[in-house]
Amino acid sequence: MALYALKRVSAEGLALTEEHEAIARPRKGEIHWEAFDRGAFAAGALADAAELWRERAVQEMHSLALFTQLASQLHLLGAPLDWSGAFARMIADEVRHTDLCLRMCAAVGHPAEPDIDADGLHLLARLAPRAHVRQTIVAAFCIGETISGRMLKRSFRAADVPLAREVVQAILVDETFHGELGWELGALLMRDDGLAFAEERRALAEALPGLFAHFARLCLATAGPSWARREPEVSPGPNFGTLSSAGYARAFFDGMEEDVVPGLVAIGLPEASLAYADLVRELESRA
Ligand SMILES: [Fe+2]
Ligand SMILES: [Fe+2]
Repeated sequence: MALYALKRVSAEGLALTEEHEAIARPRKGEIHWEAFDRGAFAAGALADAAELWRERAVQEMHSLALFTQLASQLHLLGAPLDWSGAFARMIADEVRHTDLCLRMCAAVGHPAEPDIDADGLHLLARLAPRAHVRQTIVAAFCIGETISGRMLKRSFRAADVPLAREVVQAILVDETFHGELGWELGALLMRDDGLAFAEERRALAEALPGLFAHFARLCLATAGPSWARREPEVSPGPNFGTLSSAGYARAFFDGMEEDVVPGLVAIGLPEASLAYADLVRELESRA
């Protein structure tokens, strides 16, 4: 990204640094960065941890860019002001998450900057603005944030490095809220307001199979739930908040079955059940 040519200037007394630090502090709890002794870990374990947290930093930066874009569209569409406040909080949260992930990279001895993929951001850019906002909220919140909360809960249970546990917990607190808020926003946006609602609802229902497949790929669900539930959830060694491929896939399948599919049905997308059943059948056939 061109602006990254500016690099982060961390200078004491600089207003932008102070404001950023205030936002980046966890909402709950404290992170004891100084207590982490990277000398206690093998170089390979630190490199693996850096790779994990660098990837998470990119995902968090994607959320930050996407939420910022969504917020500006919501303003233009005339959403009530409380939507702006809720989005301002979520944008601040994603700044915090990106910052925490990058600090983890630095703590394990591999400082990084997020290099985001601008092409990957505009999930559904070709639709009309109102339909775009609705689809993006269903995709990024009702599916994305719900699954990500599940994944972080499991990562928290798996983490045995104290610093990683604190960082995962700080992110988890916010992501749980994002998932809950996403369902409120989704339900509000799925109310029939006349206009072109029936047509837009149908287009969204037709997009569900593609969205489910997209999130399955993101969660490494390359085979079906019976594979994911059979394999070990974590790999051996010090755990910096990571899961095995099967562990991530399991978070996806459990989240889909317990939250996402019933939630989508409840907000007026009954097609979600069939779309998920088709996805599972297709993934099981690959095992
Ligand atoms: Fe996040
Ligand atoms: Fe989030």
